[in-house]
Amino acid sequence: MTNIHPITFKKAINDIIIGGCSLTELAATYNTPLYIIDEATIIKNCQLFTHLLSEHYPNFCIAYASKAGLNIGLSNLMASNGIGADVVSGGELYTVLNSNVDRNQIYFHGNNKSKEELALAIDHGIRLVVDNADELHNISRIAQEKNKKALLMFRIKPGIEAHTHEYIKTGHIDSKFGLPFNEALPLIQATSCSDWGDFIGIHAHIGSQIFDTTPYMDLVAILVNFIKTIQEDLNVSVKEVNCGGGFGVSYTKNDQAPDVSDIILAMANELKLLCDANRLPHPKLIFEPGRSIIAQAGVTLYTVGAVKPIANHEPYVFVDGGMADNPRPMMYQSEYTFDIVAPSSDHRDTYTIAGKFCESGDILAKHVELPLVEKNQLLVVYGTGAYNYSMSSNYNRFCKPAMVAVHNGAPRILVKRESYKDIIQYDAV
Ligand SMILES: Cc1ncc(COP(=O)(O)O)c(C=O)c1O
Repeated sequence: MTNIHPITFKKAINDIIIGGCSLTELAATYNTPLYIIDEATIIKNCQLFTHLLSEHYPNFCIAYASKAGLNIGLSNLMASNGIGADVVSGGELYTVLNSNVDRNQIYFHGNNKSKEELALAIDHGIRLVVDNADELHNISRIAQEKNKKALLMFRIKPGIEAHTHEYIKTGHIDSKFGLPFNEALPLIQATSCSDWGDFIGIHAHIGSQIFDTTPYMDLVAILVNFIKTIQEDLNVSVKEVNCGGGFGVSYTKNDQAPDVSDIILAMANELKLLCDANRLPHPKLIFEPGRSIIAQAGVTLYTVGAVKPIANHEPYVFVDGGMADNPRPMMYQSEYTFDIVAPSSDHRDTYTIAGKFCESGDILAKHVELPLVEKNQLLVVYGTGAYNYSMSSNYNRFCKPAMVAVHNGAPRILVKRESYKDIIQYDAV
């Protein structure tokens, strides 16, 4: 087993077991394509953050990045492990508000929140992460109309861009998200002097699928510098510092994802050290992991409909899903690990795995080595917990798959499979 597979993964004779459940039986009961979530892996990944920080930096909050995959069941699972939520839309906020997540642990992001979205957050006392001056203006009006105080964080552009193995420090900050320090400072001042806003802290998120510790350590140093500036220039204290998410995970055996515990421990220690050196109080430390909590927990199960030989080319394996349930290979050239659930032969071959959508680009992977693939076999894809279900679509009027959580041998539905009736339900005739 590697950290690509759910922690409960086991090979059985002619089967694969996850969460104590047989994939063959899950396919028979729930049909395919099927998203399967291993609860034990989520619990372990949540505890990795909460246990470590409880010991080394007890004033913390883990806000799961809901965009990685959200429904009420998943949100309840996070809540039962002491995890909050980062949301980026009214829909995500509404979902989380309908779950057991503690409202004090919800952070609402986004570069263009609508007035309705802002009002929903203010009504429920949700922390808003302010992106720009126009948004702050809208917030002040809505809060005053409602005679309420908005709880405000400010998203900062730290001048760090990181993605997997690429890491640059850049003076030229052109990200659409957040504010440079010099523009954030007067807005923080305006908020802290106001009767409509409570300035709580600052936020930064430097990228995704990051494999290196250095950009995170630089981020802490940059944020502490800004906390010091806010304290010294405005005489305002920063109660919370949110360092975002982006911790990398392994999707294939070629990925060497770092141990996330090492990174967050190093960051927590650095924050304490730098705050002490600058005689600043230790702020609440927030992380927003998405992928590092849920990617490994998810697998997608497909049925092979056909294997098509192509002259002078590896054969195509056609599965009953594809780009509508997992657009990441097409959008980001993301790679995954595949297997056949019950191989009928030891002979191995190399295949192109294609979906069923009406696009030539609907290819999940090329050059995948598998035991001989035959029609009606089940094909499993590992590491699909993050940004698969949440990015899925109804392209070609495809019914989105069901999602099932598995734990200790018991499956339970988190999301029902869509039907053709669901597909036409909003069509006005
Ligand atoms: C603001 C913010 N926080 C957290 C995340 C989560 O990132 P990841 O799933 O890579 O941990 C993202 C992802 O885009 C983000 O934009």
